[in-house]
Amino acid sequence: EKGTYPHYMLKEIEEQPAVIRQIISHYQDKDGMIQFDQAIQKEIVEADRLYIIACGTSYHAGLIGKQLFEHVAHKPTEVHVASEFLYNMPLLSEKPLFIFISQSGETADSRGVLVKIKQLGYKAITITNVPGSTLSREADYTLHTHAGPEIAVASTKAYTAQMAVLALLSAQVATLNQFEIGFDPVQELSIVANAMESVIDKKEKIEEISRGILSISRNCFFIGRGIDYAVCLEGALKLKEISYIQAEGFAGGELKHGTIALIEKNTPVIALASQEHVNGSIRSNVKEVEARGANTCIISMEGLDRNDDRFVFPRVHKLLTPLAAIIPFQLIAYYAALHRGCDVDKPRNLAKSVTVE
Ligand code: F6R
Repeated sequence: EKGTYPHYMLKEIEEQPAVIRQIISHYQDKDGMIQFDQAIQKEIVEADRLYIIACGTSYHAGLIGKQLFEHVAHKPTEVHVASEFLYNMPLLSEKPLFIFISQSGETADSRGVLVKIKQLGYKAITITNVPGSTLSREADYTLHTHAGPEIAVASTKAYTAQMAVLALLSAQVATLNQFEIGFDPVQELSIVANAMESVIDKKEKIEEISRGILSISRNCFFIGRGIDYAVCLEGALKLKEISYIQAEGFAGGELKHGTIALIEKNTPVIALASQEHVNGSIRSNVKEVEARGANTCIISMEGLDRNDDRFVFPRVHKLLTPLAAIIPFQLIAYYAALHRGCDVDKPRNLAKSVTVE
C-alpha cells in the first residue's frame, strides 16, 4: 500500500535508508559480524574471475559491483548486459563464477544466459529481491536484497539494495583473503543510510532544481567520471523512462569526442562530482559545455563542493557514493515526470518484469 504517498516511486525512494539498515541487520550474525553462506564465500574466493550479468538498472548496479569487487576484494570482474552476452559470449577465464543481478528474478534475457552457462557446467549466484523467482530457483545460490516489494516500474530501492549487498559481499571476500580494506562496511553503510535521509529531507530543493533545469527541455545529459559515470547512466535511465525526456549519461572526458556537438543554448547538463581524483577534470568538462551555452547543474559531495554547486550531499565512503548520489537523480526524474503529468508509476511501453527476450 502506498499509504499517504502520491506514488509508489516516491514511497520507494524514501524507503531506501530503512532498506540499507535492514540489509545490514539481515547479513549480521548475533555478534554483529557480517556473514554470508559459507558455500557462496568459497565459490567467490576460488573463482579467478566474476561475470556479472544483468539488464537495465540491475546492470548499472553491476557496474558498481565491479568497482567493489576489484578495489575491495581484488577480484577481476566483468559486467555484461544479458542480451548481448547471450549471443556474443566473451572468452571466459579458467574458473569463472557468474553473478546474476535481478530485482524481479524473472528477466528473460538474464535467464537465457543462466540456462546457457549452466549447460556449460558453471556455477551461478543470483542476487534478487524475489527469492523463489525463476533466476533464484535455477541458480546454485541466492542472495536476497531485502528491499521489500518494489511496485513502481522505475527501479529505485532495488538498485541501492543490490549495491549494498555487493558492498558487504566484496568486503567479506576481502576479509577472507586477509586483504586490508581500511574501512568497516557496516559503519560505512550506516553513514550512507543517514546521508540518504538527509537528501530526502531536502527534496523540495531538488524539486526546484528539476523544475529549473528540465521544465521545457526535450533532452538532458548526465556527466561524470569513474564511478560517477556509472551513476550518471542510471540517472539518465530514470529520467528517460518516466519523464520521456531523452537523457544520456556520458563519461565527462568522452563528451568532446562527438557528443558535445549536441550542446546548444540551454541544453541541460547535470554533472556529478563525488570523486576526489577527478573533481577538477569533471569541473573542466562542465566549463566546456557552459562555454557552448549549456544550462548546467553540479551535484557534489560534501568536502568536494564548490561555490556554485546546486546540491551537495553528505560525505560517504568513496566507493559507496553511488548509493547517496543516486537519490537526487531519482528525485530529479520523479519531479520531472510529475511536472509533465506523466504516469510516474506506470510509464508507457514498460513492464515491471520483462519476461520476453
Ligand atoms: C529501470 C528498470 C529496468 C530493470 C530491468 C531489469 O528502472 O526497472 O531497467 O532494471 O528490466 O529488471 P530485473 O532487475 O528485474 O532483472
